[in-house]
Amino acid sequence: MSNKSQNKFSQILSVCKARGFLFPSSEIYGGLNSCWDYGPLGVQLKNNLKKQWWENMTKRSDVTGLDASIFMHPKVWEASGHLDGFTDPLSDCRDCKHRFRLEEGMTTCPNCGSKNITESRDFNLMFKSFMGPLEAESSTVYLRPETAQGIYVNFLNVQQSMRLKIPFGMAQIGKAFRNEITPSHSIFRTREFEQMEMQFFTSKKESARWFDYWREERMQHLLSLGFKETELHFKVHEKEELAHYAQKAEDIEFDFPWGRRELEGLHNRGDFDLSQHQKFSGKKLQYFCPVENKSYLPYVIETSIGVDRLFLAILSSAYKEENVNNETRKLFKLSSHIAPVQIAVLPLSKKSALLEIAESLSSDLQKEWFVEYDSSGSIGKRYRRQDEIGTPFCATIDFESCEDNKLTIRYRDSMKQERISIESLNNFLKDNFK
Ligand code: GAP
Repeated sequence: MSNKSQNKFSQILSVCKARGFLFPSSEIYGGLNSCWDYGPLGVQLKNNLKKQWWENMTKRSDVTGLDASIFMHPKVWEASGHLDGFTDPLSDCRDCKHRFRLEEGMTTCPNCGSKNITESRDFNLMFKSFMGPLEAESSTVYLRPETAQGIYVNFLNVQQSMRLKIPFGMAQIGKAFRNEITPSHSIFRTREFEQMEMQFFTSKKESARWFDYWREERMQHLLSLGFKETELHFKVHEKEELAHYAQKAEDIEFDFPWGRRELEGLHNRGDFDLSQHQKFSGKKLQYFCPVENKSYLPYVIETSIGVDRLFLAILSSAYKEENVNNETRKLFKLSSHIAPVQIAVLPLSKKSALLEIAESLSSDLQKEWFVEYDSSGSIGKRYRRQDEIGTPFCATIDFESCEDNKLTIRYRDSMKQERISIESLNNFLKDNFK
C-alpha cells in the first residue's frame, strides 16, 4: 500500500474509532484478532445498509425473505462440499514460525522474507463446535461459512408454503464465520462477518439471462447507495478460479484505499446445491412445473455481499479531506438515506429561550428522522463533528430564531448556509432526501 493510501485508510479507521462507528472487540483486554464491535453510529449505518438491501430485494413480487439458523445439520456441510473443499493452503515459516496463507507463486515468508517455508497443507476454514454437553464426534456442529445453505435446504418449504412459481428468489441477511488464516484490513476480511445473500431459482434455459439481469441490478443498487461508477468494476472469474459450486462467477470489485478488491460475488451455481442436498438427504427437491408438466431441479443465480465489507467500502468512498482556512476538514460524504445521523439540531447558545426551541424541534424531528441534538462547544467545532460523522444537514437555532421563527440550514458538502422557517424544516428534509 502506498503511503498516501495507508494514510487515508488509517484516517478512516481513526475517525471510525473516535466518532463511535467501530471499536476493536474486547479492547480493554487487548482486543481479539479480527473481531470488531460496531458503535452507536456504526450500527445505525450498518442497519441502514441492510435496510436498503432488504427493501431492494424483497419489495418485489418474485423475491421472498428467510432467516435460517446459524447451526445446521452437519450433513449439510458434507453435501455442500464445505467439509472437503472449503480449504485454504496453509504454510509455516521454519525461521520466524509465522503461519500464513500460501498465495499462488509465493516462495518466501511474508513476515521475515525467509525461503525456509513448509509445503502447504489444506486448512479447513469452518469453525467447529459441539452441540449439547458431550464433546463427541457425533455432536459436532459447524458455524455456517455462508448463509446460502439455509436457503437451499428450505427451497421446497418456501416454494410450497408461499405457492411460488419459478423463477423466484429468496433473500437472507445473517452472520457467517470463516476461520480465515490471514484476516486483513480491519473489517474487510474477518472471521465473523455478516452476509446479504439472495438465491434466485430458475430453469437451466433461463439461467444465463437471469445472471445478466442480477449483475446489472446489483450494480445499480450499489450506485444508488452513493458509489461512483468509476470505483466499481466487474471482474469475470476464469475457469480455474471458480469456487467448487460455481459454473460461472463474476465479482463486483471496489477500489479500496489499498487496491481493487472483491466487494460482491455473483454466481451461477447450476443445480449443484439442490442436487447435492437431494442426494445426501434422500428427499426429493425437484420443482414441478405446471406449464411444462414436468419436474426438475432448478438452477440458482446467487448474489452475495458482506455487510461489513460494504460498510468499509462506503466509508472509503465517502471519506474526504479538504483544506478550509488552512485547516483540514474531514468528512464522510454519505448519501442522506444511509447517513447514521440525518439532521443535527444545534442551539447557538445555552440561553433557555434557544434551548427550548431546539429541544422541541429535535423531539419533533425524531419521529421521522435520525437526529442528533448537540448544545455544547463552539458552533464551528460542532459543524466539524457532524462533517466527520457524515450528517448531511445541520439546523442551527440562533437569537433571531426567537423573533422570526427561522433557523439556519447548513449543508455538509458545500458548507453553504441558508435561512428557512422552522415549520418548513420537515418538508425541506423530505425534499432533500433521496
Ligand atoms: N455464498 C457465496 C459466498 O459466500 P464468497 O465470495 O465466499 O461467496 C461472498 O463471499 C461475499 O461475502 C464476499 O464478496 C464478501 O463481501 C463477503 N465475505 C466473504 N468472506 C468474508 C470475510 N472473511 N470477511 C468479510 N466479508 C467476507
